[in-house]
Amino acid sequence: MRSTNFPTLFALITGASCVNFPFESTQLQDSDVGSFSAIAFGDKTTPTFANSTCKTGPGNVGWPLDDEWSKLNSSLNGALLKPAPPAIVCYPGPLQNTNQCNYLLQNASSTRFYINDPVTVLTDWPEGNTCLPTANSTGSSCTQGGFPTYVVNATTVRHIQIAVNFARNKGIRLIIKNTGHDFVGRSAGAGSISVWTHYLKSFEYLPDFTAGEYRGRAARVGSGLEAWELYNYMDINNMTVVVPGGSTVGAYGGWTAGGGHTILASYHGLGADQPLSIQVVTADGRFVTADMYQNTDLFYALRGGGPGSYGIVTSMIVKAYPAVEVIQSVIGFSGGNLTKPAPPLPGQPGDTANIQNLTGFWNGVYQFYLFGKTIVDNGGTTYNYIAPLGNNTYSFTTTIQLPGLTPQQAQALLQPLFDTLNKIGIAVNNSEPIVSPAWGAAQQGEGDSPGEQRFATRLFPRANWENTTTFLSTMGAIQSNVEAGYIFHGIHLKPTEAIGGYPGNTSVNPAFRTAIMHADIFDYVSITGLTPEQITSTHTRLETYVNLIRAATPGSGAYVNECDLQEPNFQQSFWGDKYAGLLKIKQQRDPWDLFWSPATVGSEGWEVKTVTGLPTQNGPLCRVPNYTTYNG
Ligand SMILES: Cc1cc2nc3c(=O)[nH]c(=O)nc-3n(C[C@H](O)[C@H](O)[C@H](O)COP(=O)(O)OP(=O)(O)OC[C@H]3O[C@@H](n4cnc5c(N)ncnc54)[C@H](O)[C@@H]3O)c2cc1C
Ligand SMILES: *[C@@H]1O[C@H](CO)[C@@H](O)[C@H](O)[C@H]1NC(C)=O
Ligand SMILES: *[C@@H]1O[C@H](CO)[C@@H](O)[C@H](O)[C@H]1NC(C)=O
Ligand SMILES: *[C@@H]1O[C@H](CO)[C@@H](O)[C@H](O)[C@H]1NC(C)=O
Ligand SMILES: *[C@@H]1O[C@H](CO)[C@@H](O)[C@H](O)[C@H]1NC(C)=O
Ligand SMILES: *[C@@H]1O[C@H](CO)[C@@H](O)[C@H](O)[C@H]1NC(C)=O
Ligand SMILES: *[C@@H]1O[C@H](CO)[C@@H](O)[C@H](O)[C@H]1NC(C)=O
Ligand SMILES: *[C@@H]1O[C@H](CO)[C@@H](O)[C@H](O)[C@H]1NC(C)=O
Ligand SMILES: *[C@@H]1O[C@H](CO)[C@@H](O)[C@H](O)[C@H]1NC(C)=O
Ligand SMILES: *[C@@H]1O[C@H](CO)[C@@H](O)[C@H](O)[C@H]1NC(C)=O
Ligand SMILES: *[C@@H]1O[C@H](CO)[C@@H](O)[C@H](O)[C@H]1NC(C)=O
Ligand SMILES: *[C@@H]1O[C@H](CO)[C@@H](O)[C@H](O)[C@H]1NC(C)=O
Ligand SMILES: *[C@@H]1O[C@H](CO)[C@@H](O)[C@H](O)[C@H]1NC(C)=O
Repeated sequence: MRSTNFPTLFALITGASCVNFPFESTQLQDSDVGSFSAIAFGDKTTPTFANSTCKTGPGNVGWPLDDEWSKLNSSLNGALLKPAPPAIVCYPGPLQNTNQCNYLLQNASSTRFYINDPVTVLTDWPEGNTCLPTANSTGSSCTQGGFPTYVVNATTVRHIQIAVNFARNKGIRLIIKNTGHDFVGRSAGAGSISVWTHYLKSFEYLPDFTAGEYRGRAARVGSGLEAWELYNYMDINNMTVVVPGGSTVGAYGGWTAGGGHTILASYHGLGADQPLSIQVVTADGRFVTADMYQNTDLFYALRGGGPGSYGIVTSMIVKAYPAVEVIQSVIGFSGGNLTKPAPPLPGQPGDTANIQNLTGFWNGVYQFYLFGKTIVDNGGTTYNYIAPLGNNTYSFTTTIQLPGLTPQQAQALLQPLFDTLNKIGIAVNNSEPIVSPAWGAAQQGEGDSPGEQRFATRLFPRANWENTTTFLSTMGAIQSNVEAGYIFHGIHLKPTEAIGGYPGNTSVNPAFRTAIMHADIFDYVSITGLTPEQITSTHTRLETYVNLIRAATPGSGAYVNECDLQEPNFQQSFWGDKYAGLLKIKQQRDPWDLFWSPATVGSEGWEVKTVTGLPTQNGPLCRVPNYTTYNG
């Protein structure tokens, strides 16, 4: 394993910290600490620990008394919140409110209610499902569960520094919540203090920016910005920045930190390829700039080395590009004993053709996946789904996203694919492509709400597409998963280092760089209401099938931001040969293990103890007994 694939391990230059925005000028000074030693800075070279087997929680030894929390709140100028889960209004108690509960049940999911809530996470189960909205609370209860106990509504760097210092000095679990999109509970944590970065929404366009060898368009961006907000800035400034697919996903929190795939992945690279400099509060409480020249270890780790592990990012300068138009084409067909094409899946373009011959159906699917090579080589991506419809019938749908082409060029590019499908007997038409509705701020950030998704993912190497034998065995593994009842969601992409461009040297999973497709394999079982045993056996069955895909893609990996929390050997899978180097940076920058989230760099030494035994965040975070160090 290489351990020096980053430029300077001991980057000691912390310099006079520059800022991107006024909110970053409000900082904690050593002189502000005064007699409130709980908010004193840490020293990572001689770290002191609030020692115990577990991080302390409410009611435990070491948990601050009320007057200490008040003192903390004063030093934060009142930014400390103690929010209940939003659905508490559905349960008996002082906060019960039938109108508000009905609003949650009927209307909140089409608004920004959940996105603006300080504790909601968008996948319920990792929190512990401890307070779900219900019209009939008889027999269930609402507890804080895996939601944090306190939230710092951060609007200055000083707020974040105080939260970091207090949590570290007191041995309290710290989490970071931006939008709450993380699928496995990384923005939740029982008994924790949460730093809520949602309101860090500053933006400034820089039409002519220079940094190192970079000269061109750029933008200063606050870490609380969501994709849809950036689409609006793109329109205003007639330029393009690279953003996530989901319109309320945060662009500069977990997305950039974990890699960040996008419609433009084969055109301008991943999210992690975009930063030119990063402003971050580190585990010792200090605020630093990480770029090509200073804190280069952090600059490396924060671009792909995993969410929430090395510091709390407050803003970045990212690359911007000339405005690009994305052209979209769609294909949909179903297979099996159907008299007409199947009705559309939610949110998907409908099927326009049906083929009774299932061998022909799968042949059509294989031909599409194979053609993905041509699409990514022309700067495009696809977002495709193969879904079992029951009674041995199946649906295949995809959008094809082609940045920088005219509709006519896109149509001509795709014609050979349509010819092949038509020849097999799949009567789909190469209709004139349109301007992509997926690239733009259509929904203005409304409509995301909590759900329950358990799934696994895989990165498919391009090499598997270059050899007929391996291609057929890869497709066979995919087909087996769909025939077993799972929905397969593939995304063709080509985020090579060359496409990612300057400044390069990121810590992104190397498997992304050689991939032709990233895919999610969704469990079809809704786990709400199941017993822990049922949830475990459901997961075991999914694993059996996903292992077929893993076996067809040996040595590749999976995407940390869209993952099975129980991914086997996550260190190799999420970071390959970069893991050992990242772990060193983590240990040097955060000897306290202040920033901890499941299945991220350096997480091995700790575990959340849950009553059910399920891998949720609903329990104390404790050291793994007798754990020494990760050794592959
Ligand atoms: C509907 C939906 C659509 C999605 N679409 C895409 C997509 O198109 N492409 C893609 O790659 N992924 C996608 N994802 C996955 C997405 O990348 C992850 O959920 C990601 O973690 C979201 O980051 P966040 O900051 O918005 O969310 P949060 O859940 O708030 O945070 C996620 C993680 O990032 C850490 N973090 C957040 N902010 C900071 C910060 N300022 N500093 C340091 N750490 C921070 C948190 O500690 C946490 O570990 C999607 C997810 C959903 C639910
Ligand atoms: C805390 O633990 C560390 C490492 O185990 C040890 O070196 C240190 O002395 C302990 N500190 C206290 C105050 O107990
Ligand atoms: C913190 O102080 C503000 C302003 O005084 C107050 O509104 C808020 O309720 C306090 N937070 C907590 C957790 O007590
Ligand atoms: C939900 O929205 C509908 C349509 O706007 C409205 O009639 C209804 O009163 C709303 N219900 C609640 C509980 O807010
Ligand atoms: C509410 O749920 C309880 C327990 O499941 C059940 O006994 C009761 O009939 C339900 N009430 C209504 C009005 O549905
Ligand atoms: C958090 O801070 C923002 C910005 O000051 C404010 O608008 C918002 O109301 C606060 N949220 C809560 C829940 O206090
Ligand atoms: C927007 O940018 C594009 C690409 O650089 C350019 O062709 C176009 O003229 C610009 N439009 C406006 C209104 O400036
Ligand atoms: C196809 O479906 C029709 C109508 O549902 C049914 O009558 C027929 O037996 C089916 N054929 C096969 C081969 O399953
Ligand atoms: C495809 O095109 C043919 C010929 O123009 C037309 O008859 C058919 O209805 C079209 N099919 C679909 C699904 O649009
Ligand atoms: C079914 O499709 C396969 C693959 O395209 C083809 O070889 C076969 O001839 C078709 N069978 C029928 C009965 O159409
Ligand atoms: C499967 O076919 C049976 C008999 O035609 C029908 O009753 C049932 O609804 C079908 N199931 C699905 C999932 O389409
Ligand atoms: C294709 O892959 C198979 C199975 O790994 C291998 O035996 C074969 O030599 C490969 N073919 C080529 C042309 O590389
Ligand atoms: C940890 O080490 C202690 C002392 O060597 C031993 O008694 C104990 O069984 C170990 N615990 C585990 C879980 O291995």
